[in-house]
Amino acid sequence: QGNSLKSAYQEDFLIGTALGTEHILERNEKANQLIKKEFNAITPENIMKSQLIHPEVDRYNFSLSDKFVDYGLKNQMYIVGHTLVWHSQLPSFVHKISSADSLRIFMKEHIKTVMGRYAGKINSWDVVNEALNEDGTYRKSIFFNKLGDSYIKEAFELAAQVDPKAELYYNDYNIEQPAKRKGAIALIKKLQENGVKINGVGIQGHWSINSNNLKDIEDSILEFSQMGLKVAFTELDLTVLPNPWDLRGADVNQRFKEDPKMNPYKDSLPDSVQNALANRYSELFKLFLKHKDKISRITFWGVDDRHSWLNGFPIPNRTNYPLLFDRALEPKKAYQSLMSLKESK
Ligand code: G3I
Repeated sequence: QGNSLKSAYQEDFLIGTALGTEHILERNEKANQLIKKEFNAITPENIMKSQLIHPEVDRYNFSLSDKFVDYGLKNQMYIVGHTLVWHSQLPSFVHKISSADSLRIFMKEHIKTVMGRYAGKINSWDVVNEALNEDGTYRKSIFFNKLGDSYIKEAFELAAQVDPKAELYYNDYNIEQPAKRKGAIALIKKLQENGVKINGVGIQGHWSINSNNLKDIEDSILEFSQMGLKVAFTELDLTVLPNPWDLRGADVNQRFKEDPKMNPYKDSLPDSVQNALANRYSELFKLFLKHKDKISRITFWGVDDRHSWLNGFPIPNRTNYPLLFDRALEPKKAYQSLMSLKESK
């Protein structure tokens, strides 16, 4: 079934990756060859976030996003815009906005300008990102606090007008978990009941080799698709490191930064963990294949372990191994496990 992920899974769903600046500027030939060979969908990891693309009230910075979109067009990739409305990585001027009207104007101008520039070129947008708390209630973000939950409806309505061809997604993490999933279902139902266009839901998929959530993931695929939504896994990675937040009473502080137990695989990853990562990816993809008719895309949150955000979160400067390609851009056992899932058919 071909010698790359995208060809092995071409009958099933898109296989995407998140691009950093070094990829967009084609600074590393080996990385770019790999991206073009393995993936048929791209998401910008950071450069389209409002802080970077819209640094001042009336100044936009499109140089990297133009290159990102050209990269996708040139290589016939499915292009994802990430993200229009998000409480995080906002430009500093937004935090100084005091009235609801001015915030609404910022949000709408931003959507019109950024989405409008790439209308007909970007295939799908994460319109609203991470609007929910873990218990399924609305996150008390600047948008919610000033505009109430109707900012979500306004954002989707406007997005549908600005680029009627683009697919519109709600994107969030942990929405496979029951309480937060319930919140996501309610949020999306409200849009649907108001006749607002929404094509899909993005389950981010920042999980761990120890996550035990296959049933939650399967229930989510079924429940979201029953609502007429496409399901995408938009930011998949699997941490292999201990999470200090899993330890009772722990918090992220100096103690953990210096605790060798928190960064156990500094020099290399033992075979046992390499295998655990491969098994976990394989279990997930078996489930994705079982529901391939409901799944539009699986995007990994990064290309290789060196550039993963998980080296720096939630504790800085760790050595993590969450992706399919190692620090030398060579395929790991996890990659082979996903290829062999298709070969055995
Ligand atoms: O580019 C600057 C650099 O100039 C500066 O020296 C350095 C010092 O801190 O920061 C660099 O920016 C960092 C940026 O990543 C690029 O590396 C930011 O501090 C850092 O906050 C930012 O982190 C990103 C994070 O979103 C921000 O919230 C991660 O790379 C990115 O992977 C992560 O992605 C998010 C998704 O967008 C939404 N879902 C969750 C996911 C993981 O948090």
